[in-house]
Amino acid sequence: MSKQNSVPYLRLGVNIDHVATIRNARGIRHPDPVRAALLASEAGADGITAHLREDRRHISDFDIAHLLQEIPLPLNFEMAATDEMLEIALTHKPNACCIVPEKREEVTTEGGLDVAGGFDHLVRYTDELRAKNIRVSLFVDPDPKQIEASAKLGADIVELHTGAYCEAHEVRDMAKRDAELERVREAAILGDALGLEMHAGHGLTFDTVESVAALPQLHELNIGHFLIGEAIFLGLPAAIREMRRRMDIARKKAGRAA
Ligand code: PXP
Repeated sequence: MSKQNSVPYLRLGVNIDHVATIRNARGIRHPDPVRAALLASEAGADGITAHLREDRRHISDFDIAHLLQEIPLPLNFEMAATDEMLEIALTHKPNACCIVPEKREEVTTEGGLDVAGGFDHLVRYTDELRAKNIRVSLFVDPDPKQIEASAKLGADIVELHTGAYCEAHEVRDMAKRDAELERVREAAILGDALGLEMHAGHGLTFDTVESVAALPQLHELNIGHFLIGEAIFLGLPAAIREMRRRMDIARKKAGRAA
């Protein structure tokens, strides 16, 4: 799909955290997330996402350095707003930093960042990253208050948390699923109107991706857990190609509707 269309090309960012989760279960080097990132690149991924958590439960500092040396794709470095992570980001200068909330006890990133409530704390992070030409992305719930605060803060990108939409689909609560998708849709329209580059992700699967990919304001989806899980059955390149195929179908339909 060309970037000249009124509906922009939708990039696929592949999150390789859970390759490291499997590796760390044995404390050895296999499977290597860098190898997964290289395979993802060959299979058509447009970017790689990796989250260096405070507790290093999956991705390690070595992985980040190695990814930046080895992969031919932009790295979206997910980080909490802490001094330690800021220093690592400023040292490595990834293409983008996606600031996420982080609680040690959570299984995954459970909610979006409270940009409105944490505005004063976040200003320094946004300013310092942008001063080094690192794009700043904020991972937020599809809530107008958070989108407006993100624009006011000077973020380049807002990534909308699609977890509530995907969870509702998972438990077959279709009324909630549709309401959550509507929240994502409205947030994408608002963010786009405020000049933010809009991304989305969390919990997306083959079944849930098309409705999100059809939102014309979005420029990128970040998908991890499902693809790494599906790689067990299909292989990683085939899982990525199938996700890409479904994104392209949705995007074509969105283009025709535009
Ligand atoms: N985007 C962000 C900001 C995330 O924190 C995550 C999970 O690490 C993802 C996207 C990908 O979510 P999932 O692994 O559920 O596809």
